Amino acid sequence: MKWKRLLQLTILSAATIVVASCQHEQAVTIKQLVRDHAAHSDNMLLNDKGDTLYVANMDINTVSILDAKTKKVQAEVSVGKEPRQLALSPDDQYVYVSCLYDNQVDVISTKEKKVVDSIEVGIQPYGLVTSQNGDTLYVANYQSGTLSIIDTDERKEKKELKIGDRPRTVTITKDGKKLYVPHYLDGDISVIDTEKEKVTKTIKLAASPDQPDRKKSQGVPNTVEQFVISPDGKKAFVPHLLTNIDTPINFEETIFPAVSVIDLEKDEEIIDERKELFDEINIRDVKNENMIVSNPYDVAFQPDGSKAYVVMSGSEDLVVFDLTRGGNATQILRRIKGDNPRGIAISKDGQTLFVHNAMSHDLATIQTGGDSPYARVKMTGEPVKLIKKDPLPKDVREGKTIFYSANSDEFAASITGNNWMSCASCHADGDMNRLTLMTPKGPRNIPSNVVTTETGLFLWDGTRNEFADYIHTVQGEMGGMTELDPAKPMPEDVQHMYDLIFAFLQDPNSFPPPQSPYRQKDGRLTDTASQGEQLFNGKGNCLSCHGGEFFTDSPKAVNEEGKLTELNTNFLHDIGTGNKLDVPSKGDARGQYQNPRDGKKFDTPTLRGVWATAPYFHDGSAETIEEAIERHGNDSIPKLSKGEVTAIAEYVKSIE
Ligand code: HEC
Ligand code: HEC
Repeated sequence: MKWKRLLQLTILSAATIVVASCQHEQAVTIKQLVRDHAAHSDNMLLNDKGDTLYVANMDINTVSILDAKTKKVQAEVSVGKEPRQLALSPDDQYVYVSCLYDNQVDVISTKEKKVVDSIEVGIQPYGLVTSQNGDTLYVANYQSGTLSIIDTDERKEKKELKIGDRPRTVTITKDGKKLYVPHYLDGDISVIDTEKEKVTKTIKLAASPDQPDRKKSQGVPNTVEQFVISPDGKKAFVPHLLTNIDTPINFEETIFPAVSVIDLEKDEEIIDERKELFDEINIRDVKNENMIVSNPYDVAFQPDGSKAYVVMSGSEDLVVFDLTRGGNATQILRRIKGDNPRGIAISKDGQTLFVHNAMSHDLATIQTGGDSPYARVKMTGEPVKLIKKDPLPKDVREGKTIFYSANSDEFAASITGNNWMSCASCHADGDMNRLTLMTPKGPRNIPSNVVTTETGLFLWDGTRNEFADYIHTVQGEMGGMTELDPAKPMPEDVQHMYDLIFAFLQDPNSFPPPQSPYRQKDGRLTDTASQGEQLFNGKGNCLSCHGGEFFTDSPKAVNEEGKLTELNTNFLHDIGTGNKLDVPSKGDARGQYQNPRDGKKFDTPTLRGVWATAPYFHDGSAETIEEAIERHGNDSIPKLSKGEVTAIAEYVKSIE
């Protein structure tokens, strides 16, 4: 295998020798292929020649290679689990693929159209980009909080740089001197000097200030999906969400889309240029109402820099910003054909936009109409299928499509009012988002969906026993299905929607608990964690509540027929974690409200993958696992020494 790679490399460098020959003289120059523009990691890339598109089919575990002119799929290459983003080598010879759930980067040879190598990286690799001469590959490891710096000749990691919580996508400047790595959940952006291989600055996206009118855009930045540099290299557009955490959770008052603009000379946000609903995004529909868009995901610029196109993955729209005239949105193309648009690329002539739909696995084409400020974008033709076969069961695919959708017109009943938000607007990509929202019962930490269907009752206070109870979330927080009376039996087609989402949440491939970095390389527990395991199972008394395969006693809350019921409160526990803002409630079973809660007792949370879901407790008040353990009161656990807590914590952090 090794010699074969060496051979490939030799051929590669031979190919870069340009031989100019005329009748009498011969000149040989060695031309190094160096990229002459900024580049960002994405789920879809167009190569520099503009003739080939590469698309990561995230849950199909393939990469499609298409002819950009004919839009014919030339190959669908099998890769590792959950390919999320792609990077091209500057010479177009290789496509690097981050395989999120395999903790590796696959290397596709564009000539051979197959994987020729795999590179081991950190936990859950996401964004990746090559250096401008191609000798280095940078990979952001989402769960490790690191950047792998990889020698592309050796295909080996040279260095793993700590850069902070949940780095997501990666972008390199035209001169190759800087990398930008947004952190998904907190809106920080690390600026990395590629020569020093060090973080030199952190750009903090600003919070949008509170407004007297809560229905106006406001909140803290999170769910940062992209960082795309404008053609002149001076600015970057960063699509993300704003979450209003200091007012009670309410439809139209909690989640807002935004696109922030970064000045790349000063490496600061240009706060005045942030694009928000009702201000810079203020387009009215035929009924003269503001058009709401949601879950901004990716950006493409007109090659002359005159416009920016942003895909809204939730509401499935394209928003056009005119950068020559103030930078406001001038058009919203409602409903790109296909489901869940997450990627956008523009042809070299600036005429055609390619849009990657992540749930329907197809490619939509939109004509830009050119550079003129009066040009209008237009959908052309039907989307082209990117994959041969969707291996996901049909109900899982449909449920997943609903989970990520904020399209109010698409399903049996609207999942959200007015295209406002998707489940993923709070459960960032299905996970927690580190935020705690205020609810009528008190503050509630947004949980991750890892093994959520296996852990007995739903919600921190265990007030839901069946998934259709989420109609309360859909009606109250998302403004959907408002025409239905939750006390009445649900219409069959609406019940079916909940069954579909449930099937998606239950599929083991949807949200596998992430590998724990607290284990040894071979997966075994460390010595400290082994001691902790004994304490956990013995003296610590943890098993009495966090027992079983899913580390919770909640599945025992059943009635005489053995069916899960939120009326059985024997498995809720008051461990002294009540918050002063928690209040007794009538609960929220569907219909007659008959599962009251005292505001002190909570459902035992699972500990699978818990190392990755700080902060802890129903109100997000414990920052670390150690703190969470130490705060178990009311004699739920015995007095433990510091050393015992450390050992138990090390074990808990190792649970996958
Ligand atoms: C506005 C933000 C928001 C939206 C939108 C949202 N959730 Fe949640 N979700 C939360 C919060 C906050 C909690 C915890 C609430 C509690 O326990 O009282 C939660 C809890 C959950 C839980 C319970 C986890 C457990 O094990 O107890 C599941 C499952 C869930 N949400 C799924 C969904 C689905 C499916 C959707 C879309 C239909 C959705 N959520 C939409 C904020 C949101
Ligand atoms: C009497 C039942 C009970 C016992 C015993 C118990 N726990 Fe818990 N644990 C809970 C409950 C209930 C919560 C949630 C409290 C809240 O949200 O306010 C919790 C929360 C946690 C959390 C935070 C999880 C998260 O996602 O927020 C951790 C970590 C944890 N427990 C670990 C332990 C360990 C380790 C032990 C043994 C030393 C232990 N627990 C013993 C009931 C228990």
